[in-house]
Amino acid sequence: MTYTTILTETRRRVGIVQLNRPQAMNAFNLAMLGEVFDALEVFDKDENVGAIIVTGNEKAFAAGADIKEMADQTYVQMLANEHVKVWDRIRGIRKPVIAAVSGWALGGGSEFVLSCDMVVASESAKFGQPEITIGIIPGAGGTQRLARLVGKHLAMEMVINNRTLTAQEAQQFGLVNRIVPVEGYLDAAVAFAEEIASRAPIAVRMAKDAVNAAFETTLTEGLAVEKRNFYPLFATEDQKEGMQAFIEKRKPNWKGK
Ligand code: HXC
Repeated sequence: MTYTTILTETRRRVGIVQLNRPQAMNAFNLAMLGEVFDALEVFDKDENVGAIIVTGNEKAFAAGADIKEMADQTYVQMLANEHVKVWDRIRGIRKPVIAAVSGWALGGGSEFVLSCDMVVASESAKFGQPEITIGIIPGAGGTQRLARLVGKHLAMEMVINNRTLTAQEAQQFGLVNRIVPVEGYLDAAVAFAEEIASRAPIAVRMAKDAVNAAFETTLTEGLAVEKRNFYPLFATEDQKEGMQAFIEKRKPNWKGK
């Protein structure tokens, strides 16, 4: 597929989507959003891909939704176009999505990161929700996902008072899995993603679905989802292979079946 606002590549079993509007700090316009989700869906269907990375460049993951595209929009236009609905497409991706963040992850950029499953951050990464400074609030899940992840008081400060987090702070508050040097940050993220991509594919999918249920349901419902995802794994060849490999003291050879 030919894209104009993103670059894509595959490294072994890792699909990489790189936001590529450096002239606008990778701000998400509607064209880029559409391409990002198209690319994610292509990788999601590709059986040679086990995990997906979304990244920007060293200076900016993404500085938010494109302010210049939104500036003249009226309430009615925003509503009619369901301007923020497209962001929900990330919820349909079943494989693990890892954000590799360097530099700014602001506004919609930060919200995109919050929608990913894991985050590798370079030492220069900075996370924030500056929407309040331009007279709006986060609209792509920021108020909800941030509050669930970092707690109410810090989320309030970030959303109401534009507090930004350094990579270290973001890790401390559970927003970041790994911090790596700026130089080679994408290679480090790929190494992390390769580990994930080497796991039993069906179990990974079931695990992602079950952990996500923790953020959507009650404990009782979440535990029911976990059971519904646990038992069917005993119908997979990979469960037999994984347990046999353990007993035979060898590495498992996953088939994704
Ligand atoms: C459009 C943007 C942009 C954005 C930066 N640019 N962010 N264009 N939308 N969100 C453009 C600038 O206008 C400029 O273009 C070029 O990128 C370089 O940016 P500078 O500001 O000159 O760079 P710098 O001084 O290094 O500052 C970097 C920055 C700053 C701190 C990231 O650009 C900034 O604060 N950006 C806006 C962040 C923000 O408010 N995000 C929230 C957006 S609302 P020119 O043409 O002048 O060179 C949002 C809502 C989401 O995300 C809700 C869901 C839809």
